[in-house]
Amino acid sequence: MRTERAKRSGAKATGYPKPGYPATRLRRNRRADWSRRLVRETTLTTDDLVWPIFVIEGERQRSEVKAMPGVERLSIDLAVKAAEEAARLGIPAIAIFPNTDASLRDEEASEAFNPGNLVCRAVRAIKSAVPEIGLICDVALDPYTSHGHDGLLNDAGEVDNDRTVEALITQALVQAEAGCDILAPSDMMDGRIGAIRAALEQNRFTETQILSYAVKYASAFYGPFREAVGSSAQFRGDKKAYQMDPANGDEALREAALDVAEGADMLMVKPGLPYLDIVWQVKEAFKLPTFVYQTSGEYAMIVGAAERGWLDRDRVVMESLTAFKRAGADAVFTYFAPEVARRLKSAT
Ligand code: PBG
Repeated sequence: MRTERAKRSGAKATGYPKPGYPATRLRRNRRADWSRRLVRETTLTTDDLVWPIFVIEGERQRSEVKAMPGVERLSIDLAVKAAEEAARLGIPAIAIFPNTDASLRDEEASEAFNPGNLVCRAVRAIKSAVPEIGLICDVALDPYTSHGHDGLLNDAGEVDNDRTVEALITQALVQAEAGCDILAPSDMMDGRIGAIRAALEQNRFTETQILSYAVKYASAFYGPFREAVGSSAQFRGDKKAYQMDPANGDEALREAALDVAEGADMLMVKPGLPYLDIVWQVKEAFKLPTFVYQTSGEYAMIVGAAERGWLDRDRVVMESLTAFKRAGADAVFTYFAPEVARRLKSAT
């Protein structure tokens, strides 16, 4: 066929290379740095980063998270300094997680509804010192329950969906009132996005954004986080009755569809690297801002291996974050945010 056409056009049949190799040599575009830069499809920028931080009571206090070398819980005054540094680096937003004093945790998560609780005070302090940075708060009860679950239990000891949703509404309003910009329900109760959205509208928090942890798996990658917020001490069992089965993908789209319908502004997939297929599908299906969480366990794996000299920390960090973007993520929650922002800054 090709030969026939070539004859008609007057060109020599032999002048046309066969499709494929060697006419196509994909290495050509990769040869020089300038060319690789020119054809690059995905670019990670500081605008893609959200920095999760942990707060504790006290002043000038910092405490190490053992399973997350390099990550420290900070008292509010130091958290303000951290937020100032984040703003200087151009990081758009931080997510604040409280390590509530054990004496304040109870069965009913009462401290979650206290407008003067640790996370609300941190939000107020950071908002007034660094108004230009976005503040994100989890909506979930695990930093406040004595049993460590994200919700309230019924008589059978199970997490009670509807009673928990009522509690989450109150928690959400308390945090919105404190000045939180983005509420991020990470609890996986059914119906909570709609319920929280309705309550925000009724209470004139019409501009408060909701980032739904729409697709959150019952994952072993959260282990170090639970140490960081202090919820692992009493925690028994698992969260499989409300967080998703890691084996499921179709269900992820059902979860996301419901949260979109209920009024989510943004969606989250969590954990990150083992779930890139889900990130891709959620972004493709809904075209909403789609975030991904590089969890504490992912952080620990990279840092642990790098400390032993088994991996090149900087390169693995950049590669993993670029992979999130390639998979369709609009932003990434990552404990590496400040070091990455610094690296990107020094590269320009
Ligand atoms: C609480 C919450 C968790 C994480 C974020 N919010 C832990 C959990 O659900 O048990 C995990 C974050 C991380 O591992 O870095 N609902």
